[in-house]
Amino acid sequence: MSIILAIESSCDEMSIAILKGKRELLCNIVASQIDTHRLFGGVVPEIASRMHVECVSTVLKTALQEAKITMEDVDAIAITKGPGLVGSLHVGMQAAKTLALAYHKPLIGVHHIAGHIYANELVEDIEYPCLCLVVSGGHSELVYMKEAFSFEVIGQTLDDAIGEAYDKVGRVLNLPYPGGPVIDRMAKEGTHRYKLPLPLNDDSYNFSFSGLKSAVINLTHNAAQRGEEIIPEDLACSFQNVALDVLINKTIKAASEYNVKEIIVAGGVSANRGLREKLTERSPIKVLFPPMAYCTDNAAMIASAGRIMFEKGVLSELDLSVKPSFDLEGESIHESN
Ligand code: KG4
Ligand code: ZN
Repeated sequence: MSIILAIESSCDEMSIAILKGKRELLCNIVASQIDTHRLFGGVVPEIASRMHVECVSTVLKTALQEAKITMEDVDAIAITKGPGLVGSLHVGMQAAKTLALAYHKPLIGVHHIAGHIYANELVEDIEYPCLCLVVSGGHSELVYMKEAFSFEVIGQTLDDAIGEAYDKVGRVLNLPYPGGPVIDRMAKEGTHRYKLPLPLNDDSYNFSFSGLKSAVINLTHNAAQRGEEIIPEDLACSFQNVALDVLINKTIKAASEYNVKEIIVAGGVSANRGLREKLTERSPIKVLFPPMAYCTDNAAMIASAGRIMFEKGVLSELDLSVKPSFDLEGESIHESN
């Protein structure tokens, strides 16, 4: 059974996980910097990479201790090569290469979104063909997967990602960063009373959240000018209802058109309770969500995707470089090649 040590440092979390076989997670250490970035209302890339440098050795030591193994026991090193913040990615990449070189272990460069998708396989096998709804701070995509590690992007956001829209609305409502989980909690306590435009409600599988975000901002500013009170819980509820409606409608339509066996959800916004409840309720087919602990950025998901790449013999050279923005489709593994 393979033992994969994975490093994920694409944004403001330095995480190292060790995975044995398909789903025996020996550890998943996540060092979050959220308290620091919250002071600035968002992630400051320069600070993120410096803090990664400070903690990477400690996180590695803790991971090995918790897993009760040594580097000699590890079969391969998986590393997030992108997309993400270039400085943050670099720190993880250097650590991964150093370990690969010093301990003569193969290196596996993993796409961050492939990681989010394969977080689902830490719990149960994905059934193909499937449709994946990717919803994170940087991505909103519908991905058709004919088979394992085959990615066809059939729709994506034309402007803001869904998590980004949540966080920007959170800022207008004076909520702590990141606004997503707070809006999710508030939405449960509110009622849908504000009229907001349904974003890009067309026949395509693309999304657009910037108009919806602007509508929330304008509504808040106009109310302030007129001296009217906004009920934050109700506005959170209206924003979430409208945003989720379009995500869910398009996901269900695509699942039917592509005749998939199941829908899988990936990325930080897959933690959203409203999305979990409504999509499960409205979907005629099975919907898989990652466990809460593996929704937002973590190395367990990188280990899970890395394990498949290792089994398929897709390894990287030691001159692997970080790729701050690159497409998911190019990561597909074609069995015939
Ligand atoms: O996947 P992730 O950890 O980082 C990226 O790869 O972008 O996603 C972070 C995003 C943030 O925008 C955060 O607000 C959002 O996920 N998020 C949520 C919830 N939990 C995290 N958005 C809505 N509801 C949640 N419960
Ligand atoms: Zn992510």
